[in-house]
Amino acid sequence: MKVNQKPRTMMFPAPAVVASAYDEDGKADCCTLAFATMCSHRPPAVMIAINTTLKRKTLKSILHSKEFAVAFPSVEHVAETDYIGTASGYDTDKLADVGFTFKNAEMVNAPIINEYKVSLECKVMHIAEVGSHTQITGEIVNVQAEEDVLNEKGRISFEKLNPLGYDDVSHTYFEIGEPTERAFKIGLKFKK
Ligand SMILES: Cc1cc2nc3c(=O)[nH]c(=O)nc-3n(C[C@H](O)[C@H](O)[C@H](O)COP(=O)(O)O)c2cc1C
Repeated sequence: MKVNQKPRTMMFPAPAVVASAYDEDGKADCCTLAFATMCSHRPPAVMIAINTTLKRKTLKSILHSKEFAVAFPSVEHVAETDYIGTASGYDTDKLADVGFTFKNAEMVNAPIINEYKVSLECKVMHIAEVGSHTQITGEIVNVQAEEDVLNEKGRISFEKLNPLGYDDVSHTYFEIGEPTERAFKIGLKFKK
């Protein structure tokens, strides 16, 4: 028997990614986001949603610079990522606090956090106000990945990256499990 639950945001698995941008003074800014998803193949695009009412500094920075990066933290950086999602750039230099460094992205003017192994470089292509959040769609113009998370074909291996997952219902981080079946193949057995 199914039981009605109070309406709330939920998605599974949700990532814990870190968006970064420069503020008006050129200072690197970042925050952790669970509201993030891919949303277009051509051009490749990612959508992030940042709370408008709570005045996140990273939102202000992205709206100002129109360019940003999105990093995929590995499980080993769960504590740093959690801190980046609790402290505000208005109050402290979060990257310095956790001992992280950054360099400029290759194709956009945004900070790439060196310790995170995979980052998307994005240009803002669409902004929408949806309820409490500002949805920002970014065209992905470059992807940077450390060599040690690439597979033998040179593609990003999420198994090697061991990315951080997040459950917004229980407020818990988790590790993504083992691969099961090949997508677009296993379901074909039902094809008539
Ligand atoms: C796991 C996790 C996920 C989060 N997801 C979001 C999100 O999707 N959108 C958002 O606006 N804030 C999210 N936050 C909160 C921001 O990261 C947090 O308020 C941060 O301190 C904002 O920093 P800033 O003021 O420097 O931008 C999340 C925090 C955590 C720990």
